[in-house]
Parts: sequence; structure tokens; C-alpha cells
Amino acid sequence: TYVVTEDCIKCKYTDCVEVCPVDCFYEGENMLVINPSECIDCGVCEPECPAEAILPDTEDGLEKWLELNTKYSAQWPNITSQKAPPEDADAHKGEKDKFEKYFS
Ligand code: SF4
Ligand code: F3S
Repeated sequence: TYVVTEDCIKCKYTDCVEVCPVDCFYEGENMLVINPSECIDCGVCEPECPAEAILPDTEDGLEKWLELNTKYSAQWPNITSQKAPPEDADAHKGEKDKFEKYFS
């Protein structure tokens, strides 16, 4: 599966949802997540994210994000079309430690 990681927090560009063939993105207040049991591993969302927040879970160190995507995709609502990002999205792009600072 692919997972959404820390770089999405406070950016939420939502380009990813437009290209997903199975509509498996879910929206929280500060970030999106992928439902790993719905993702078909097509990979088309990865290059679409301006924040480079989407990665295959085969990369090292992503266990925390796989768990987080699994947990919150079961709780948050499905999002299937792109929407405007937060006004300050670009200011948060590439920022460090966004999970500790903003995740709620
Ligand atoms: Fe959707 Fe494909 Fe991305 Fe999985 S890899 S979330 S199926 S676009
Ligand atoms: Fe987040 Fe990137 Fe999608 S910032 S909402 S994963 S396009």
C-alpha cells in the first residue's frame, strides 16, 4: 500500500484524491490518509502530491504512518474530489516536526 506521511500535515493540497482510481483517501482536520485495505498500489498519487507526502509503505521507517493511516481511515470521512488547500499551505510545505506541532 501507499501511505500519507507527515509532509501532508497543514498542506492538504488534495491533488491526490483526484487521481486515485479507487477513492481511498480520507480527510482529517490537518491531513489526509489512505485506507491501506482499499489502496490497490497503483502509485499514481505519489508524483501528484506537491508536498511529496505520499510514499510506498515498503520504505524504511514508515510503520508509524501505516498505523496512523489504518486507524484514521476507519474514522474520518471519505474525500473524492479536490478542494482548495489551506491559505497557509505553502508556508507549511517542507516544515519539520509537523506531527508533534499540529497533529490532533
Ligand atoms: Fe489510490 Fe493508487 Fe494512491 Fe493507492 S496508490 S492511494 S490506489 S492512487
Ligand atoms: Fe496531502 Fe499531498 Fe494529498 S499534501 S492532501 S497527500 S496531495
